[in-house]
Amino acid sequence: MRDHKSRIAARFGAAAPDYEAHSQVQRQAALRLAERVKALRLPHAPAVLEIGCGTGHLTRELLPAIGGDWIVSDIAPAMVRACRREIGEVARYAVMDGELPSLAPSRFDLVVASLAAQWFVDLPGALAALSDLLKPGGCIAIATLGIDTFTEWRAAHDAAGVSAATPTYPDAGELARAFPRHLDVEIEEELVLEPLADPLEFLRGLRRIGADTPEPGAQPLSAGQLRQVLRALEEARHAGISYHLLYAIALRSSSTSQPRATR
Ligand SMILES: C[S@@+](CC[C@H](N)C(=O)[O-])C[C@H]1O[C@@H](n2cnc3c(N)ncnc32)[C@H](O)[C@@H]1O
Repeated sequence: MRDHKSRIAARFGAAAPDYEAHSQVQRQAALRLAERVKALRLPHAPAVLEIGCGTGHLTRELLPAIGGDWIVSDIAPAMVRACRREIGEVARYAVMDGELPSLAPSRFDLVVASLAAQWFVDLPGALAALSDLLKPGGCIAIATLGIDTFTEWRAAHDAAGVSAATPTYPDAGELARAFPRHLDVEIEEELVLEPLADPLEFLRGLRRIGADTPEPGAQPLSAGQLRQVLRALEEARHAGISYHLLYAIALRSSSTSQPRATR
């Protein structure tokens, strides 16, 4: 699994210079997540941890709006550098695997992550570790991908008789159940269609933002199989590729006890 994580970090890191120009859906998700967080009742100058900052779509929107003491982190060092250049020294920065946060417990009012959690290999384990970081009354706010993401791409694989290397994502109920039981979770959903100019464009787009690491154990397609998938996608004449966005707001109660059981 360490190899898988290194690949994720390397691919996102290599894409850091191009990420901003090719991440419209990611930007939109970050804006929507920021709106939801701004509507929360947060303490003055909250202590905030951001996981998977990328080049700073969420940081840029949220940090000036809510202020506070931020640690901005990503697993890819090049993403942390890009975000730091963009946002400046109003935050502290860390290269960190958000699933295994090396931080003291009960110190954050808010943990945020926009479109990073879909890369976690153990979502319930990661959410339990992140919930340990919350102060009483603290909140985890994430945007992640849901089950209907890339349905058109999967359908093209089915039509070609091969398996897609894209991960399977949770539905809203599964995401809610992945949080520790002691958190009070609300999920909202949104379906966004990314226009598809030509079938290869989808793959190129994932590559340009570094989001093309296959699932561990996925078998790479041969050139012939890939051609069949692209042909099936073309023949289906979809208007675009679906992104099923899930926004989760998970609140820890303000009493101090914090049991570790998960649903
Ligand atoms: C799709 S980008 C989203 C970036 C940014 N939050 C945005 O809204 O544009 C996913 C980011 O999550 C980071 N990432 C992936 N797995 C991670 C992990 N386990 N811990 C921390 N960051 C991770 C990647 O390096 C990448 O920068």
